[in-house]
Amino acid sequence: MPLTPVLTTRWGAEHSWRLSTYERLDGYSALRTALSMQPDELVTLVKDSGLRGRGGAGFPTGMKWSFIPQPKPGEEPTGPAAMPKYLVVNADEGEPGTCKDLPLMMADPHSLIEGVIISSYAIRSKVAVIYVRGEAVHAHRRLLNAVGEAYAAGYLGTDILGSGYDLELIVHAGAGAYICGEETALLDSLEGYRGQPRLKPPFPAVAGLYGAPTVINNVETLASVPFVVRGGAEWFKAFGPEKSPGPKIYSLSGRVVRPGQYEAPMGTTMRELLEMAGGVRPGHELKFWTPGGSSTPYFTAEHLDVPLDFDSVAAAGSMLGTTALMVFDETDSIVEATLRFTEFYAHESCGKCTPCREGTYWLVQVLERIARGRGTAQDLDVLVDTCDNILGRSFCALGDGATSCITSSLKYFKDDYVALLPPEEQARLGRSLRLEPVGAAS
Ligand SMILES: Cc1cc2nc3c(=O)[nH]c(=O)nc-3n(C[C@H](O)[C@H](O)[C@H](O)COP(=O)(O)O)c2cc1C
Repeated sequence: MPLTPVLTTRWGAEHSWRLSTYERLDGYSALRTALSMQPDELVTLVKDSGLRGRGGAGFPTGMKWSFIPQPKPGEEPTGPAAMPKYLVVNADEGEPGTCKDLPLMMADPHSLIEGVIISSYAIRSKVAVIYVRGEAVHAHRRLLNAVGEAYAAGYLGTDILGSGYDLELIVHAGAGAYICGEETALLDSLEGYRGQPRLKPPFPAVAGLYGAPTVINNVETLASVPFVVRGGAEWFKAFGPEKSPGPKIYSLSGRVVRPGQYEAPMGTTMRELLEMAGGVRPGHELKFWTPGGSSTPYFTAEHLDVPLDFDSVAAAGSMLGTTALMVFDETDSIVEATLRFTEFYAHESCGKCTPCREGTYWLVQVLERIARGRGTAQDLDVLVDTCDNILGRSFCALGDGATSCITSSLKYFKDDYVALLPPEEQARLGRSLRLEPVGAAS
């Protein structure tokens, strides 16, 4: 297997964010190669590499690009094929625990910009937008500066490197809401509307930004593209499992000795990553962890050897999400952590659909009651039933994600909930409790 680091190689270089450093370390060489290829060849290359989206869902990137309607040779284009195409970079990074895209943009903004230019060329887009999380003023400034450098050097603008290809790149400050990371809400926000998800279909590939064909990709996805072009599909595929390959940035936070970003091939296990991060803090034991942020069902110590790639994590009952590994030890209360996450979802629910808007509100009420020692015998059933009425019934994946921490905590740590119930309520539990929660974790 090829060695990591790949995506983070330049992060330690002095003034790593400057164009001069980037160029000295092979930067923009992939762009020269890409511009000598046909756009469709690039789409095929990325398809062959097996690169899957790093924004959470793991959708194959090359396939997403191939959905953009393109004019057919010798025919007058009509409909979406005749419209402008857009590339939108999802740099909203709002998922709790996730901290890979902002460090990437701070340390190596030109790797994202180079990825954006190559990807825009591949889908024949002449306008690209980076939608960066509104609160991340530092990243916004750094991107503006790097984009300015790229324009001045002829990597952006008209006739890029004498190829005849033109691209404008806009950096846009987001609206400060988690929902604006959901790709269609992001598009609404970008268009100046309140950020709320759109009904799909039509998918953004056909009717996205301003109703025109649009590709939306995550920062890490696009920053991987120059490496695919430079190393080739076979090289990229050699990192980790065949169906979910590539170098990957894992974010470790919480009760670890050295929290931070760790790059390793897809399919690396939590046991290996914990070793890299110095382990759980001394004298304490791992209790539970999230494989991909707060929207992904918890794992426990029994999952330490699950390969962290999209398919293996799904087979073990969770989701790889954004590879945000939040670590909790035996001093942490699963009910308190779950309550905190649920408060986040209730606060961030955009209100468009009833299951998510009402359901997350009621989940907070019930969890709070339990956490404060005022729970009733029915409350655990109410939690399970409420999650069941959100999962698969909400308008977008925010609602589904809100149920993950609750259903999985009940699956692995039901006794922790029961222990918080007043003794008389514990005695009334009887057979009414549905032991197996339904939903994502079941
Ligand atoms: C509530 C919610 C928030 C999201 N936030 C982000 C985000 O901050 N960044 C991101 O890349 N994807 C986020 N996503 C996923 C995007 O909708 C989309 O799948 C992703 O940007 C596609 O890029 P990829 O194919 O490169 O993974 C979010 C999804 C949901 C439902």
